[in-house]
Amino acid sequence: MAAEAVNAPFLNDVLRGLSLPDKAIPARWFYDDIGSELFEEITRLPEYYPTRAERAILQDCGPDFARLIEPGRAVVEFGSGSSVKTPLLLNAIRPAAYVPLDIAGDFLRASAATLQAQFPDLPVHPVEADFTKSVKLPREVAHLPKLGFFPGSTIGNMVPAQAVDLLRAMRETLGAGAQLLIGMDLVKDPAVLVAAYDDAAGVTARFNLNLAARINRDLAGTLPLEHLRHEARWNDAFARIEMHLVAARDIAFEVAGQHFAMAAGETIHTENSHKYDRYSQTLLLHAGCWLPRQRWTDREGRFSVLLAEAAAPHVAP
Ligand code: AVJ
Repeated sequence: MAAEAVNAPFLNDVLRGLSLPDKAIPARWFYDDIGSELFEEITRLPEYYPTRAERAILQDCGPDFARLIEPGRAVVEFGSGSSVKTPLLLNAIRPAAYVPLDIAGDFLRASAATLQAQFPDLPVHPVEADFTKSVKLPREVAHLPKLGFFPGSTIGNMVPAQAVDLLRAMRETLGAGAQLLIGMDLVKDPAVLVAAYDDAAGVTARFNLNLAARINRDLAGTLPLEHLRHEARWNDAFARIEMHLVAARDIAFEVAGQHFAMAAGETIHTENSHKYDRYSQTLLLHAGCWLPRQRWTDREGRFSVLLAEAAAPHVAP
């Protein structure tokens, strides 16, 4: 079998990240086929409440959405993935079109086709794009007012400076008069948070360790998986869960011919998952040029969904 071309952006991120004084690799590299399947498994874990809590909100708040989101908008979903939560929204409002945006082209087209079959009369225009930059939307929806949809608390993966850049890019992509429906996870008892990222069945540990396995598979790595262990910690100063791969003893390994070493206890920081309260959410949205209009939480107050409106540029009192 012919050798596959090496994934250059992945290799760059890994070599750069492992050369930092505090080793770190961007969380987006979790999601190869195995990682994506493990994440699906995570969403069904008893400890991992965010997916269920958000789905409950989307299910229960349909009448509110119908009242606050007028008919005729093009729904633009950022990082649509498998689009599993989308029908809950599309059934509640009267959209004029659906535009899923994702960087994974094949996956995007497959899920767009599934959704099209469920909503045969809705124009669906998938766009393969990196939504962290301003995206040019298809001509067919150019004249329509937009509703951005960004569920799943994916924004929590970003540090606040990146999150603000992303919100501003979304504001550019969606244009004047746009609305944004966004899911954000909430600050809560650290024991509940840590359990959600370090489940008893060890699925999240496998998800985290799969990043090291992926480096070995795709980048000719020799990371000793048996000496790396999964850790989830609550960083209270930064209001976030962090995932790390901790060296259980001194180790040395190679990636694409470059040598690296870790002392016992040293870590590779693999993910941040920021948690918010209503005031940090308000500040984040304002900083990203969005005005919060409505906020929902699930019954247990674990997760929130917010509706915001695009701010006019340079709002001042
Ligand atoms: C997909 C980024 C929302 O941060 O909760 C789940 C990813 N990582 N368990 C999250 C994740 C470990 C998830 N997001």
